[in-house]
Amino acid sequence: MACFLIEGGRKLEGEVYCKGAKNAVLPILAACVLCPDVTLTNVPELSDVSRSFKILEFLGCEIERDKDRAHIKTDGIKNLALGSDLTSKMRSSVIFLGSLLGRFKMSQASYPGGCELGARPIDMHLDAFRRLGADVKDMHGSIRCVCKESNLKGSSITLSFPSVGATENIILASVLANGETEIINPAREPEIEDLVSFLNRAGADISIESGSIHIKGVRSLKKVSYSIMPDRIEAATYMAFAAANEGNVLIRNCCPNHFESVTASFREMGCNVEIYKNSVYIRAPQRLKAIRVSTMPYPGFPTDAQSLIMAALLRAEGTSVIVENIFDSRFKVSEEFIKLGASLDIVGRAAIIKGVDEIYSADVSARDLRGGAALVAACLCARGKSCISGISHIDRGYENMEGNLRSIGASIERISKEQDEKG
Ligand code: EPU
Repeated sequence: MACFLIEGGRKLEGEVYCKGAKNAVLPILAACVLCPDVTLTNVPELSDVSRSFKILEFLGCEIERDKDRAHIKTDGIKNLALGSDLTSKMRSSVIFLGSLLGRFKMSQASYPGGCELGARPIDMHLDAFRRLGADVKDMHGSIRCVCKESNLKGSSITLSFPSVGATENIILASVLANGETEIINPAREPEIEDLVSFLNRAGADISIESGSIHIKGVRSLKKVSYSIMPDRIEAATYMAFAAANEGNVLIRNCCPNHFESVTASFREMGCNVEIYKNSVYIRAPQRLKAIRVSTMPYPGFPTDAQSLIMAALLRAEGTSVIVENIFDSRFKVSEEFIKLGASLDIVGRAAIIKGVDEIYSADVSARDLRGGAALVAACLCARGKSCISGISHIDRGYENMEGNLRSIGASIERISKEQDEKG
């Protein structure tokens, strides 16, 4: 088991380059099942992406990968049931239920894993499959969906909350259905738009309107090439690293209009943020100002950047309040921040952070992906040497984080447990 050794206290300066978005590539890999032949570029090297390729291979797809390019042929798909060995470590394995059901009229998958952020039910996904004409059964921990007639039938589906995963699953299940499907109150995250542009390029007929998405069923999809959008949360992460460490950093290959709520928060904290077409520049002051921020569905402040902004606020001047409105339990990292000397309290859905003058090194443990990245941000500004274990969580969503950080002046090293014991 590897960990990060970080020596805090270095200012960050230079340029980093964002990779393809994890939360866009994962549903698009599931969507490949609907197309005969797909070439993807800007595919990030992440452990969750490797898990998705393992699922595609298990289904029977032919896959060639070369750096950030992947070629997937789906003619050979013969398996339609995913066991827990393939689903238990990744939330987005659940999205294969929709694409397999859409193309093969049946699908089966064990319950999905992923970051533990409180209860993460999939009731909206399953209710929607039923509305489209599938029989959905829980077979002792495995969900089996079977189309009751020869094809699914378009329907109007209203989501009680704009769930990202449910919106994706409905789109994937209904692309080849008979008639039109309407999703009312869908998620509007940029990753949904990326999935829709990928599918439309492959011949789907999907339109996004304000407050709804309309999917007109087509007979089949065709061969397609597509480049994955840049990762807005990776960009937000490097902004947080810079903000917490008196940074002077240019973040390239990103779409700043995908994270305006994040750039607004860093400005409010006293950072100088300059927006360009495909990059964002951030220069942070010696001490940040406290702010209040609440997570909301897009275009609100993203829950995925919540623990990162918290890390930056640990040493801010004044008291900050962060309200988490998307997940029930996304403050686990606060216990690790306290080990570093932070002063914070969790009261229901709110975290109250009293900025301290200094935080100090400690041995801490990443328990989820974004919380892990937030620990990196905090340890970079902690006095002394810290060790972060559990970094496999970080590898799920960031390609070569330590290399990028070193290139902008951080002292961070990945060591294996064995090395750790020797040294
Ligand atoms: N929810 C339900 N029932 C459902 C579906 C969702 O109650 O059937 C609830 C969830 O429990 C949660 C809320 O709705 O409280 C939002 O969940 P959503 O379905 O929108 O999230 P997701 O699809 O499980 C994706 C991202 C997450 C990101 C959220 C919110 C992927 C693979 N995951 O999760 O990303 O936090 O949307 O934006 O796209 C991450 O990258 O670190 C990450 C956790």
